[in-house]
Amino acid sequence: MPLALTPPMGWNSWNMFGATVNADVIIQVADAFVSAGLKDAGYQYIVIDDHWQGGRGEDGKLFPGAQKFPDGMKAVADAVHARGLKFGIYSDAGTKTCGGRPASQDYEEIDARTFAEWGVDYLKYDWCHAEDTRANAEYRYRRMGEALKATGREIVYSICEWGHHNPWLWGMQVGGNLWRTTGDIGDAWKDVAVPWGWLYGIESIGFEQQRGLEQYAGPGHWNDPDMLVVGLKGSSREIAGAGCTDIEYRTHFSLWCMLAAPLMIGCDVAHMDIATHEILLNREVIALNQDRLGRQGFRACRSGLVEIWKKPLAEKAVGVALFNRGDKKCTVRAHWSDLGLNGRYRIRDLWLHKDIDFSDCEVSAEVPAHGCVVLKLQPMD
Ligand code: GLA
Repeated sequence: MPLALTPPMGWNSWNMFGATVNADVIIQVADAFVSAGLKDAGYQYIVIDDHWQGGRGEDGKLFPGAQKFPDGMKAVADAVHARGLKFGIYSDAGTKTCGGRPASQDYEEIDARTFAEWGVDYLKYDWCHAEDTRANAEYRYRRMGEALKATGREIVYSICEWGHHNPWLWGMQVGGNLWRTTGDIGDAWKDVAVPWGWLYGIESIGFEQQRGLEQYAGPGHWNDPDMLVVGLKGSSREIAGAGCTDIEYRTHFSLWCMLAAPLMIGCDVAHMDIATHEILLNREVIALNQDRLGRQGFRACRSGLVEIWKKPLAEKAVGVALFNRGDKKCTVRAHWSDLGLNGRYRIRDLWLHKDIDFSDCEVSAEVPAHGCVVLKLQPMD
């Protein structure tokens, strides 16, 4: 069966827990997926990021840290599967992971087999401590892609080389289902300075750094603008950033849905507040992201700090987002000619959950500072 026919949805430990991830955290998250309705809304993969590794044994196999994962990794995978969810793990194509842990360079085959034995359904594969050339990237990512395939297990393959060597051009050929397009996200609207450079803000990753990549996304192969920071609110144990307002997080989520981006939650889902819950579980906006046509949305036009985005959907419907990157609220008007549309459409507001209008020429709405209005246009004839 082809994998990731719609963008993968799930959770990853990095953005909230970083190096403190352990088995208890994973079980709590899996329980919250069920009790908070995330599973019913389509979130599926629970992925352990870096710092799970204890070492590599004399048999050549990776083993998890005994204190963090006292019953081993298969027990954690089994617990995730028992809740009807899927389990993911992390490794790196170089000699060490970004956190300095043992990685998979030249151990691709044995590591892929170990992951398959544990019941892994998703591998995020990073790029630290690897020779940073395109030839090596293609070689290393292909080698792990083939090793995963050889296990016979269905494993979603998430390439994480930060867009250094245009993975959208070769990621699918080496077996990838998604590939990071940028460096790491921070918990902020604007870029955040860190000792080793920058963590990118929502604004630069979402609005600037995905431009022109829409032609490379489709069912089974997605551009990945990094994981969600919705709901972190400055509480991350790992990533910098003072947090965003709920309006900004809503814009972040809407933008990632318009981009047909993987929706990997990063906050502590066992302790979400109401606003976070409302954002991450907006099924109408999720449906835009998961639309079976699998088209990545793009900016149709812009005027100053106002952007109008379009995402073609199945059955000739259209997702339209009105974004206001400015610091003052404003009225945004989108003409069908801005969107390359003709004809009469019924217009539904996906955050108000209301049919608001129908029109044969335009739609307008008031949009708060750093906010957005997300619409679904349904053809009437
Ligand atoms: C890199 C990746 C992050 C995370 C860390 C873990 O920075 O881009 O998403 O996996 O490594 O060390």
